[in-house]
Amino acid sequence: MLYRRVMILPALLFLAAQPVTFSRDVAPILFERCVKCHRPGEVAPMSLLDYKSARPWAKSIGEAVAARRMPPWMADPHFSKFSNDPSLTETEISTIRAWVAGGALEGDAKQLPQAPVFVAGWELGTPDVTIDIGKTYTVMPGRDSYEHFIVQTGFKEGMWLRAADLHPGNRKVVHHAHVNIVPSENQAGATTIQSMTSLNDYLVKDGNLTRISQTAPVLDDGCQANAPNLPYLHGAQEGALASYLPGRSPDVFGENRAKWIPPGAKLEFVIHYAPLADPNAQATDRTSVGLYRAPRPPEEVLRRMDLRNFFFVIPPGEGAHRVTRCYAFEKDQTLLSITPHMHYRGKDARYDLIRADGRTETLLFVPKYDFNWQLVYRLHQPLLVEKGSRLVVTVHFDNSANNPANPDPAKAIRWGDKTEEEMMTSWIEYVETKK
Ligand code: HEC
Repeated sequence: MLYRRVMILPALLFLAAQPVTFSRDVAPILFERCVKCHRPGEVAPMSLLDYKSARPWAKSIGEAVAARRMPPWMADPHFSKFSNDPSLTETEISTIRAWVAGGALEGDAKQLPQAPVFVAGWELGTPDVTIDIGKTYTVMPGRDSYEHFIVQTGFKEGMWLRAADLHPGNRKVVHHAHVNIVPSENQAGATTIQSMTSLNDYLVKDGNLTRISQTAPVLDDGCQANAPNLPYLHGAQEGALASYLPGRSPDVFGENRAKWIPPGAKLEFVIHYAPLADPNAQATDRTSVGLYRAPRPPEEVLRRMDLRNFFFVIPPGEGAHRVTRCYAFEKDQTLLSITPHMHYRGKDARYDLIRADGRTETLLFVPKYDFNWQLVYRLHQPLLVEKGSRLVVTVHFDNSANNPANPDPAKAIRWGDKTEEEMMTSWIEYVETKK
């Protein structure tokens, strides 16, 4: 107690003596935690790069940080720690609130730290190689579509990548996107429904959109003992090279980890275009991926496994409909990150690991899933999981009228590409554990 008082008292005296100012106290926090989104041309509605732009927002900045709405982070802090957790410290929050309470003063501009320098559009700086979809694509107004673009890399030699940034050409219409490596001719990229041929019997095609047929078997509890052997309900599927979801940061593989693009490979872009608000408005897109070369061949090859349950049904009006999917580890693997993916009815998502010896831990709990913030959660430490362990993914869907994002509570919902239908997908980055 004494220790605490000793710590806090000088800080309070200091604050009382010197007004909190933008230049000295607040700008460093905004530069570190906010401006990667809050700068001209980025996702956020206003820039926080300078006093003039930030000042009109002072009150809502104070509220947003106090409520921990900003910076966006959806993981329940009671479980694992994450290396990319951008949450502000209590001290940072009090500094911002003291600034607002004190009249949101500018202070001495000479005390302003150097603003971070951004390369237009690329969070990680200029890519070594940029490859785009090969044409300017015109998005048909008022209609969802899934488009595939296959382009040559032209790589004579392969390339080890330390990062890939899938960059929507037009954020207003690109709802989400993947880029897959197509290593050779006649091979569909991973993560595409085209590559999941054993699902064919259960699918209905609607132009280039796909959904599961109403008559397909139903299995909400993919983890149940003796679950029938439905396609892709067990094991895992190979994931994409990189993906874009609303709010997601670039795919960074790490210093000693990399992904490999073989010589002569093609890239397949899979892009979901969502309808424009104005059904008569036309828009164009030219999405690209920025590739960042690894300095040397890696110690470990980074992989991504995708876990899905295609066979759930969410009854109309149901407020918390549970769907599960399990993964049994058949060898030792080291997990690095988790990304949950659902659509508008996604309510929460939990990842529990049951170790071979029976110990259980929750790796991630997202208590309020939000379609607009589909973040990647990078585990603080790579997590070794032994063969014989089981990962249990449990999600709930809110198909009730209480869910403001729900487009239609009267419908039973199954798996489908459209945003108005649902998905239950997890992407898990891992490396094969060395013996
Ligand atoms: C990952 C991107 C991102 C980061 C990082 C981020 N913001 Fe935001 N912010 C947004 C977007 C997008 C919106 C508009 C949509 C919304 O309100 O959800 C927004 C909205 C806001 C708003 C207005 C709405 C509200 O919730 O009150 C405030 C204020 C705000 N941000 C402040 C901040 C501050 C302060 C930080 C840093 C401490 C920050 N943001 C970090 C993306 C971001």
